[in-house]
Amino acid sequence: MVRYLQPAAGPLKGEMTVPGDKSVSHRSIMLGSLAEGTTRIRHFLKGEDCLRTIDCFRKMGISIREENGEVFVEGKGLDGLNPPGEDLYVGNSGTTMRLMAGILAGQTFESVLDGDASIRQRPMKRVITPLTDMHAKIRSLDRQDYAPLAISPSALRGIRYASPVASAQVKSCILLAGLYADSAVTVTEPALSRDHTERMLRAFGAEVETGQNAVAVKPRPVLRGTDIEIPGDISSAAYFIAAASIVPGSEILLRGTGINPTRDGILRIAGRMGADITFHNRRETGGEPVADILVRYSSLKGVDISGDIIPALIDELPVIAVMAAFAQGRTRIADAAELKVKESDRIAVMTENLRKMGVDVVPTEDGMIIEGGKPLKGAVIDTRLDHRVAMSFAVASLAAEGKTGLNGAECVNISYPGFYETLSGLAGR
Ligand code: S3P
Repeated sequence: MVRYLQPAAGPLKGEMTVPGDKSVSHRSIMLGSLAEGTTRIRHFLKGEDCLRTIDCFRKMGISIREENGEVFVEGKGLDGLNPPGEDLYVGNSGTTMRLMAGILAGQTFESVLDGDASIRQRPMKRVITPLTDMHAKIRSLDRQDYAPLAISPSALRGIRYASPVASAQVKSCILLAGLYADSAVTVTEPALSRDHTERMLRAFGAEVETGQNAVAVKPRPVLRGTDIEIPGDISSAAYFIAAASIVPGSEILLRGTGINPTRDGILRIAGRMGADITFHNRRETGGEPVADILVRYSSLKGVDISGDIIPALIDELPVIAVMAAFAQGRTRIADAAELKVKESDRIAVMTENLRKMGVDVVPTEDGMIIEGGKPLKGAVIDTRLDHRVAMSFAVASLAAEGKTGLNGAECVNISYPGFYETLSGLAGR
């Protein structure tokens, strides 16, 4: 289905709370299931990816219910999961796939993890290698190093693992498997990736030590069910930060948005591009820093984006590329080869679609170079069913000439059900 979007009729104005953080929502179900007692989750993201995680744990006998918009998980402890009796299907969710692989490696039953066509193309060697090192029994059922993955029971040992990629999914997979190991696991990474697992493990009572790009967890903690309030997802807020920054006269307040320093790269880069962003009411919810973020229109300039900041904005690079197209001058994105193994090859897909709108973009091995400042014209965008690509071009459509079509537009439900309605409401279209 192609969804057509018109340019914004005028400035974007309004106040809103973006849906709950996707990464934190997944982890709340996982740790809630492995904890003893009830975990109560407020502002859970009911996107398709997180619903897949719920589905997996229900198949393993965990009661998860919704009451008055809150989610309650009746955890049964580290050893309380039942054999699922069928394959665990993660849909499009890389986080479910890779984190579950760690949890399942520690179980006393066989399991199979599978997902959609995109998941079957995404690299799983990055979790198979360290899990195998821990003596897990994990193998690909079809193509070597890709899903579906079959996992058999095995006694796990603690390891020190130097991850070649800065990936929170890899790090979290090992930490979760480490809960079942015979001694501590330590993970180091080339740059610090999002640290939600570490923070939430602590909130559930686990002993977690962190150092410079390193984290260690002791095995067999007693996790206790707890109350969690999920912050607004900075990755979802990013679309409105970009939208307000490219539509003249706009002003949007994003209440209760997560500003975890391992996720705030978009805020730092937008600031360097000249965006007008101010923070109000800084506070902490459930071990995560949040703030109300006020964004006002401001003209943008191109910047260089590379190095250790990349993991802190990896999911926002598609929308940052859109901001760059509207900025004066050149933006250079480097050290971001990971973009090629996301829900789509985001270097190729962003390049192809930005070019359709008339933007000068050169793809590189690990990023892209964007010459900004020329007017964009509406086009039909092939989202490749990548939710972040779809939302990025919905933002571009606001300030483009003529209408923009999004092929496969409904894929935004992966992380942001209701996205178009919210954007239209702010844009008065
Ligand atoms: C995530 C980690 C990141 C991110 C993904 C969510 C997580 O992936 O891109 O959207 O929740 O751990 P990588 O670990 O592959 O970098």
